[in-house]
This record gives sequence, structure tokens and C-alpha cells, in this order.
Amino acid sequence: MVFNENFEIELNNIKNEALTKLTDINKIDLLEIWKQEYLGRKSKFNDLLKLLGKIDSIEQKKSIGELANTIKETLNQSYENYQQSLSELEITKQIETESIDITLPGLNRKSGHYHPLSLICQRIGNIFQGMGFNQVFGPEIETNYYNFDALNIDFDHPARDEQDTFYTNVAPHVLLRSQTSTVQIRAMEKTNPPLKIISIGRVYRNEEINARKYPIFHQVEGLYVNKNVNFGQLKWTLQKFINLFFERDLKTRFRPDFFPFTEPSAEVDCECPFCETQGCKTCGYKGWLEILGCGMVHPNVLKNIGPNYENYEGFAFGMGVERLAMIKFGINDIRYFYNNDIRFIEQF
Ligand code: DAH
Repeated sequence: MVFNENFEIELNNIKNEALTKLTDINKIDLLEIWKQEYLGRKSKFNDLLKLLGKIDSIEQKKSIGELANTIKETLNQSYENYQQSLSELEITKQIETESIDITLPGLNRKSGHYHPLSLICQRIGNIFQGMGFNQVFGPEIETNYYNFDALNIDFDHPARDEQDTFYTNVAPHVLLRSQTSTVQIRAMEKTNPPLKIISIGRVYRNEEINARKYPIFHQVEGLYVNKNVNFGQLKWTLQKFINLFFERDLKTRFRPDFFPFTEPSAEVDCECPFCETQGCKTCGYKGWLEILGCGMVHPNVLKNIGPNYENYEGFAFGMGVERLAMIKFGINDIRYFYNNDIRFIEQF
């Protein structure tokens, strides 16, 4: 009887101890340790059950056995309840600490984009191609012949001065082209007339850097050669280009000028798009902006190409891309194009 009572007390003690301990548990892994301790194979509870065989009375054995089973079930049940609530608690905690703010903007990867000069070059190319000009390219490393001689630029012309042109140490006549007019010659050498081309590319001049000048810049060259080409066609073409480029009708002024490779030659001004000839900072209070040079191709230039170009006439024009871009975007310093400051480039 005593043994029986002790047995009961012992079992209840284990149960109470286990349940008390359980209330302190706040983590799943601690709960697993608890399970090993009270319900595992080597638990006190199991040790006790092994002694059950020592009870003589079958009735006592039965009642204690039943008690042990009830306790085991209680503990198992408690384990399961705790396991469920602890995992729910852990999920809640996780949600609280790792909560996602779905209103935050996404982490988009920044995509690259074109440099403003590339955009302007594409724009110019598209406009002229729309007018039937074929876009061609020429080398940036050139010779005296293409840069000067073939373009009717005299030997003593100031543009040949070393201060303007970058010569290379490859050979005395090899230089970095100072104008895209070189491509006029290369195109005519390759193709028989009629010919209608533009060429956009880099040119180099030995100039001091300031807000308006940079030793590298870009030009657009245009050339149209055919029978009976006249100045009126040149004017129409350039006026059309200016209107399309600036996306509005702007007045133009053709002023007589001199270029060795055209005769007659003209400098073209367009109405300042910012003040409409009233005068403002952009146009230096002149109301007009100089944007290009043009003229009828000089007979000497055509003669230099060869007999195929006899009896043909042509018009030509050339303009600075940076200048056009500066007017179009309202940029007041050419150096912005070459500093590669991402804050500037990203705006286009
Ligand atoms: N090559 C000239 C320059 O660099 C620009 C130019 C003027 C080109 C008149 C032409 C032209 O084709 O006809 O200043």
C-alpha cells in the first residue's frame, strides 16, 4: 500500500514538475529538450514505469497503470498544445520583425541610357535620312590631302596652322581631322554622282578649353551633288532641318561668308528659340544664333575628284553638334558633355 501510495505521489510529482517547467518554456527547441526529459525513453517517467512490475496486486497495477497513462497523455497533450502555440508565436514575431512595407518603391536596377550627344546625333541623322540623305562615315585620323588640299584650302590657310590642327608623329601629313568636310571627298571618290550624304562624327582642334570650346567636338557634314543643284534647294533643306530639329518654325538668316570649299558661301543664323529675336542671355542679346556654314561646292573641289564629277553642281553644309545640343537643351557650357558627371548625363 505504501509502495502504491509512493508510486502515485511520485508520478504526480513528475507530472507537476513537468507542467510547471513547461510554463517557463518560450522556444521550440527548449520544448524539445523538455519532451526528452519527461516523455523520452530515458525519462524519469519511464524509469518509474519500469518499477510497475514490482507491484503484486493486479488491481493496484491496473490503477497505477491507468494513472500513468493518463499522466502520459496529459503531458503529450500539453506538449502538442505548447508546440502549436509556440510556433504560432514565432511566426508572429517573425512577421513583426521582418514585416514588408509593400508601399516602398521597388529596387529597380538602373538601366543605362544614351549620352545627350548620342541622342542629338541620332536625331540629326534621322532628320536628314528622312530627307533622302545617306549617312556615311569617315576616319578621324586623316591626311593633309583630305583635310585641306582636296577641299581647296590653300597651303598658307591659317587653319593649317599647327596651333589649330593636331598633327601626329606617324608622318608629317597625318593628322586628326579638324572638320568632317573630309568625308565629302571620301564619299565622292567612292561613288559616282548623283550623291546625297551626311556624315556625323568627331573632329579635333588644338584649342584652349573654355565654356564654348573644347579640343574634341562633333560636326555634321552634308553634301548633295547632282545636275542643276541650286542655292534655293540648299536654303529649303536647311530651313526644313532647323524646323524639324527645334520642333517649331524658326526664322533663318543667310549671311555671305567665306569657305575655301564653297562658292558662294554663307553663314546661317536662326532666330533664338528662347527670346524670338528679342535678345537674351543664350544668344548674347543678339536675338540670333549662328548655327552653320554652307554654300555651293567650289568647282575646284569637284575638279579634284575627277572627270565623273564634270558638269555637276552641289551644295554642302557643316554644323557643330555640341552647339546644336546646347541650344536645344539650354546648356551653357560645352564642358558638361565631356566631364561625364552622371548627374548631368542622367537628365537626358
Ligand atoms: N568645315 C567647316 C568648319 O569646320 C564647316 C562647313 C562650312 C562645312 C561650309 C561645309 C560648308 O560643308 O559648306 O568650319
